[in-house]
Amino acid sequence: MGLPKVVLAYSGGLDTSIAIPWLKEQKGFDVVAVTVDVGQPVDLARVRAKAEASGAVAAYVADARKEFAEEFLASALRANALYEGVYPLSTALARPLIGRHLVSVARREGATHVAHGCTGKGNDQVRFELAITSLAPELEVIAPTREWKMTREEEIVYAHAHDIPVDATKASPYSTDENLWGRSVECGILEDPAVEPPEAAYGWTTSPQAASDSPTYVRLTFHQGLPVAMDGEPLPFHELIVRLNRLAGGHGVGRIDHLESRVVGIKSREVYECPAAVVLIRAHQALEALVLPRDLLEFKRTVEQRYAQLVYDGLWFAPLRVALDAFVGSTQDRVGGEVTVKLFKGSAVVTGRSSPNALYQQALATYSTGDQFRQEMSEGFIYVWGLPARTWTAIGARPEAASPPTAHHGS
Ligand code: ARG
Repeated sequence: MGLPKVVLAYSGGLDTSIAIPWLKEQKGFDVVAVTVDVGQPVDLARVRAKAEASGAVAAYVADARKEFAEEFLASALRANALYEGVYPLSTALARPLIGRHLVSVARREGATHVAHGCTGKGNDQVRFELAITSLAPELEVIAPTREWKMTREEEIVYAHAHDIPVDATKASPYSTDENLWGRSVECGILEDPAVEPPEAAYGWTTSPQAASDSPTYVRLTFHQGLPVAMDGEPLPFHELIVRLNRLAGGHGVGRIDHLESRVVGIKSREVYECPAAVVLIRAHQALEALVLPRDLLEFKRTVEQRYAQLVYDGLWFAPLRVALDAFVGSTQDRVGGEVTVKLFKGSAVVTGRSSPNALYQQALATYSTGDQFRQEMSEGFIYVWGLPARTWTAIGARPEAASPPTAHHGS
């Protein structure tokens, strides 16, 4: 009989590496490390070896790129999900998926606790813990970095004392998080929101200034709200995202500079690079505009906003998200066709769209020959449509009938 087990969300970085001996020494746990590949640049074999070398009793690695794309990103794209109108939720969407993997390993290993490396100031602690406890209310969560109060320097000393290799490759001033849907950058000079992010903060995108002087047109084929081919070549969703990130990022597309409202109340300056997400959401919106009626588009926009907020807030496994997803899903059957997007010096502009389900009818829209719209019918339509406004004005133009009655007091 060993010690009780804790399952640790393990990235291979300094924080989560020293968390392994810390959880054993300070809390009395055997540590099971879990690393989930959601498209970040990670060598899973090396991460597993490092977890074991750092003292983990077991180290799981999972390639979840396909699962991430087909379940989480597909749902977000169909909902055109943009937090505060700009952030495609790349980091936020990965957390519930990682949380679900942690829970399934915890059950397999008979662990009583789950641990993560998030600080006490961010959104990610909220997302991990809500995901874990929604799926498995019996599990308890430990957040070592919230408790240990070590500075970066003290962490390095702790690592050396425990024979944990510290990545010598120069300390970047930035804190980053990456997956298929985007790259997030924080810290350093970015903490001054008055200052333009330096070029060095960017990793996925070419500066729009330095990008090619000739545009690239990319043609995206959609089926039921999801992209299924790029320039005519059928691709699985996760692969299409990888290719589009490279192509659009090369044109400087997808840079987002956001003054963001965190769940914990802090305002923070966040820089993102989300080339594929930006292009796909814009193309998807363009196709919806072509095939969905106005009232549905308008109502869906209110749902989208709520959906983005609850994903940001860590409520992926809450019933409202499931219900909103069901609504969004019910709107997507006809969202198929082709969209052409022009990538040029930081911009991604839809230049063409077509669909067998288009509500656009040239015979109705045209100002040239072949017009089938019965223009004479508009007169009666406008008479009825304008009736309330005309009545309002007519009534309001009259002088007031009487002054308000004066109060009458009894004896
Ligand atoms: N603020 C973003 C979010 O809440 C991303 C934070 C990711 N972490 C990082 N070290 N850049 O989704």
